[in-house]
Amino acid sequence: MRKLIYAALAALMLTPVFAQEAPQFAATPQMGWNSWNKFAMNINEDLIKATADKMVELGLVDAGYIYLNLDDGWHGERDEQGFIHEDPEKFPSGIKALADYVHSKGMKLGIYSDAGWKTCGGCAGSFGHEFQDAYTYAQWGVDYLKYDWCYTEEIIHPKGAYKLMSVALKATGRPIWFSMCEWGSNKPWEWGAEYAQSWRTTGDIWPYFDSIPAEFEGQWHGLPVMEIVDLNEPLRAYSGPGHWNDPDMLEVGNGQLTLAENRAHFTLWCMMAAPLLMGNDLTTMSDDILQILINKDVIAIDQDPLGIQGLRLKREGDVEYWFKPLAGGDWAFCLLNRGAEDAVVNVDWGLLSFTDELSGLSFDPTGLWARNLWDSKARVRKTKGIQKITVPTHDVVLYRIGKK
Ligand code: GLA
Repeated sequence: MRKLIYAALAALMLTPVFAQEAPQFAATPQMGWNSWNKFAMNINEDLIKATADKMVELGLVDAGYIYLNLDDGWHGERDEQGFIHEDPEKFPSGIKALADYVHSKGMKLGIYSDAGWKTCGGCAGSFGHEFQDAYTYAQWGVDYLKYDWCYTEEIIHPKGAYKLMSVALKATGRPIWFSMCEWGSNKPWEWGAEYAQSWRTTGDIWPYFDSIPAEFEGQWHGLPVMEIVDLNEPLRAYSGPGHWNDPDMLEVGNGQLTLAENRAHFTLWCMMAAPLLMGNDLTTMSDDILQILINKDVIAIDQDPLGIQGLRLKREGDVEYWFKPLAGGDWAFCLLNRGAEDAVVNVDWGLLSFTDELSGLSFDPTGLWARNLWDSKARVRKTKGIQKITVPTHDVVLYRIGKK
């Protein structure tokens, strides 16, 4: 009997240890939708509710897109005590009611602020109101904060500013995903993991594949998708479960990107274990775009539990070879064609073995099978001999390699 009591006591004492092993917050990169890329400051509660409805109706929530994030432009004025309020015309029912609505759909609500005096769009920033704002967001039921870096001038220390808001968010007792947005200016990958779940590694994305049209020369403009890829790829060592590199939100379905370019953009974000935050108008999107955003096999590459950001192993002319180690010994293998012509690649599987120095994992395709994740009708192929693969211009071919 005594032994039994001791055993029961020991089990009780061990419980907290096991509890610590519960799945970590931010174990995989965030997935959801953000208003900025398509709607900029023109947001209101009807749009956000319609987007929430669409995310459920189209199966996007089931596919993992659970955050619905307001970006800049939701703000009204601060009151006499300094508390921030929503814009009463854009959000007449209030952010709290919106959070309740979003939660009732099985989703989470995100909000946006800025470490400086003003947001980039000129609304009230959080400088001097950090604890008050964090408290307000928690009262409203907010689950995510994107925290920008405009109007900080030179007297706000980046680490200090992000630490302050991180402490303020923690003090609310509510789990709130903290998404740092200081554009990589102060190498946040070197210090952000202590404060935040993700940090932007680059300036703003724009919906162009590899160059910004000449008409924007001489004025402020965002970066094309491929330039962002080149900036984010070398930072893979800093990303992992609980702390992710964020090469900015998706432009899939925006601007003049072709279907191939949209597919390539989405695939590379998955290869880089990047946040998947849709940024297009879900109420008018075509089925082709939906089929990109909702491809569960490709999303699984992004959300793989190992959480290792993929690498660009080599370039052959315009074609790049990308790899990402996955849980259970599988690998994702992606060929990207950055050139203006279709490319035909002869992949000699026998010559593709390598060891990823960062993870220490080795890729050896001997005896494995390759499943084409963008072409479900393609035959699953043995990874041996030489395979001739056509990669259309500005497109990708993506395989999951593993046992059959
Ligand atoms: C900055 C951010 C963008 C967006 C805008 C809003 O440019 O990097 O992602 O949030 O501000 O004004």
